[in-house]
Amino acid sequence: MTASGTPLRLAVLVSGRGSNLAAIAARCADGTLAATIVQVLSDREDAGALPWCASQGIAARAIAAATFRQDGQFDRDGFESALMQVIDASGAQLVVLAGFMRVLSARFVAHYAGRLLNIHPSLLPRHKGLHTHERALAAGDLEHGASVHYVTAELDGGPVVLQAHVPVLPNDTADTLAARVLSQEHQLYSQVIGWIATDRLQWQNGRPRFDGIALNAPLQIGELT
Ligand code: GAR
Repeated sequence: MTASGTPLRLAVLVSGRGSNLAAIAARCADGTLAATIVQVLSDREDAGALPWCASQGIAARAIAAATFRQDGQFDRDGFESALMQVIDASGAQLVVLAGFMRVLSARFVAHYAGRLLNIHPSLLPRHKGLHTHERALAAGDLEHGASVHYVTAELDGGPVVLQAHVPVLPNDTADTLAARVLSQEHQLYSQVIGWIATDRLQWQNGRPRFDGIALNAPLQIGELT
């Protein structure tokens, strides 16, 4: 529970199937995560997460980015304002990007400073951006993994809180490697959200603090309970 004794209110933003969302929801439902998902938003109408939310009774809707056009260009301001309106109306305390495949503006990031998390399928700062599994294989990496980080205006560049490492095996394909990383992602996100819910992880003066000490390097999963 949060200091106020109520579950931490989460807005979760997705673009696709939503397996990280489902992992977080499972931990909320079984009581091992002191949080509740108050709103799911997708930038795509066809996200698999939307029918899944409907089946679970989780409030969810699409704000379709493709419909925000001005002078033939993507109207990012209009799209993000629509997102912010719904997130803020939900009373969300923490905004969780879970496979949300859009770059967010500095304006959006500033609005949720210290309350915006992302999960990225690599050992940041290695392999920022897309196609991380293919790039880890092409680089001959011996290990790969996933990172949960606070979002700042720099793409995939905010302070990393927690990482999980997995080995890259000789016969790996991008798909086998992605699956190994994804199973770790499903542990990582709930761990970090739980630390925020219980105030172990805090955002102060633009930096994370863990158990009252400045977090200058990522924690590793399994290192702490
Ligand atoms: C996850 O692997 C997540 O790390 C990645 O998208 C996938 C979403 O899967 N996110 C990014 O690449 C963000 N740049 P999910 O929809 O099953 O949670």
